[in-house]
Amino acid sequence: QSIAVIVVAAGSGTRAGGLPKQYRSIGRRPILARSLGAFMALPAIGRIVCVIDPAFEAEYRTAIDGLADDPRLTEPVAGGATRQASVLAGLEALAPFAPDLVLIHDAARPFVAPVAIARLIDRLAAVPAALLAHPVVDTLKHADADGRVIGTRARDGLWAAETPQGFRFAALLDAHRRAAAEGRTDFTDDAAVAEWAGLPVAVVAGEPGNLKITSLADLEAADRRLRMEEF
Ligand code: CTP
Ligand code: MG
Repeated sequence: QSIAVIVVAAGSGTRAGGLPKQYRSIGRRPILARSLGAFMALPAIGRIVCVIDPAFEAEYRTAIDGLADDPRLTEPVAGGATRQASVLAGLEALAPFAPDLVLIHDAARPFVAPVAIARLIDRLAAVPAALLAHPVVDTLKHADADGRVIGTRARDGLWAAETPQGFRFAALLDAHRRAAAEGRTDFTDDAAVAEWAGLPVAVVAGEPGNLKITSLADLEAADRRLRMEEF
């Protein structure tokens, strides 16, 4: 079976500020290079495409320097205004190659473990859609805009979604095309697009630490930790 990967890196990182976070380094290496490296470690993966904002093509080239001789990494594709649009652009670019499976990953999740990706791929033998996730461990408070607690919500059965998320390629492409055609542009992950299209979706427990770099504080904390470890 052929497996392709789309790494979405077309965001502008407004919450972290400055140069889009995927092009910034934590420890000695760019966040994007770390995210790509986890997939490159798996021989089962045959093709990898990044979706980028063409305004940052030079930063992209710099970030992948040293990885560009992996022949599985193809030329980047231009993204869109939303994450959902960027994923669809990646899917359309892969369509001529018609892979069996596609994994979609946020460039901003540089700590994903190859063993978790392998677990996700294994699960896709039995289901058309699956995502890495972890059970919610915190007690959940529902609060109003002023921070006043309205109630406490049951957390059993709740999972926090991560990436990568994996799909039978043809099924996800069809779901994304239909969502776009029907003007649905509000999906924040691809599993939600698959759910909307009626596909059965499974959660797969990931490894600890697969956090998404969102704020400058996340980036700085990751940088400090890696500088200690890589000293
Ligand atoms: N992404 C994308 N295209 C977009 C928006 C987001 O490819 N139009 C990607 C980001 O590059 C990131 C992932 O989707 O790897 C998750 O998005 P997020 O963490 O929200 O990153 P940004 O959108 O860049 O950050 P922000 O929301 O703070 O602007
Ligand atoms: Mg965003």
